[in-house]
Amino acid sequence: MAEAATIGVFDSGVGGLSVLREIRTLLPRESLLYVADSGHVPYGEKSADFIRERSHQIAEFLLGQGAKALVLACNTATVAAVADLRERYPQLPIVGMEPAVKPAAAATRSGVVGVLATTGTLRSAKFAALLDRFAADVRVITQPCPGLVERIEAGDLMGALTRELLMGYVEPLLAEGCDTLILGCTHYPFLRPLLHELVPDSVSLIDTGAAVARQVQRLLDAHDLLAEGEAVACRFWSSGDAAAMQRILPTLWGEFGRVEKLPD
Ligand code: DGL
Repeated sequence: MAEAATIGVFDSGVGGLSVLREIRTLLPRESLLYVADSGHVPYGEKSADFIRERSHQIAEFLLGQGAKALVLACNTATVAAVADLRERYPQLPIVGMEPAVKPAAAATRSGVVGVLATTGTLRSAKFAALLDRFAADVRVITQPCPGLVERIEAGDLMGALTRELLMGYVEPLLAEGCDTLILGCTHYPFLRPLLHELVPDSVSLIDTGAAVARQVQRLLDAHDLLAEGEAVACRFWSSGDAAAMQRILPTLWGEFGRVEKLPD
């Protein structure tokens, strides 16, 4: 049964593909399903109730497609919905994600850490608890980044507009002495090449995609659900413009793929 089952992954849009890539690298035998809720992106400024409702609908869809586990490849959806989903599906392995505060606090030498994330993530109680737990000895400066997710959804990873927006968010953090930047939204790892141009080499960029993939592996193993056969090709759905996502998929996912319209 495990061989036929898949891992269901979702995000507000294409950002979660940065996590999906890590899962594919670590678990090449697993068959993967991906939903981009691009019809409702960005989640960052939306209410927790709205995001919870969307997360439940998408989870139901993925389970209907045979998902044996769920990955919320979205920091914002995790703070809004992971507790609810775990309550509704107590037997199901569910992996959420959170900004990499712990590794960043351990890595910083200047003692100043910057967090780039959505408004929804940064104002959540879950994020406040994360800071209390792991960042007592460092100074953490948070930076919401409105507009950035839309640039990435448009496939503009290096253009003038993206560059200008990103510089506006990052410059004040560098001026405060940040030597470690947390990419606390799954869209932002796609801006690493641009960030490498904008910030000095001495600044570390940290995201949690690889750690999430390892957590997926651990949970599947604990539930005896790791796939043993060959993976079938990943399936993609978008609640927004499926053709647009299909066009940028090779850039973000590294391969062509068909993107289907998510049923309403
Ligand atoms: N990719 C998402 C995250 O990790 C949210 C982006 C958004 O829709 O605002 O937080």
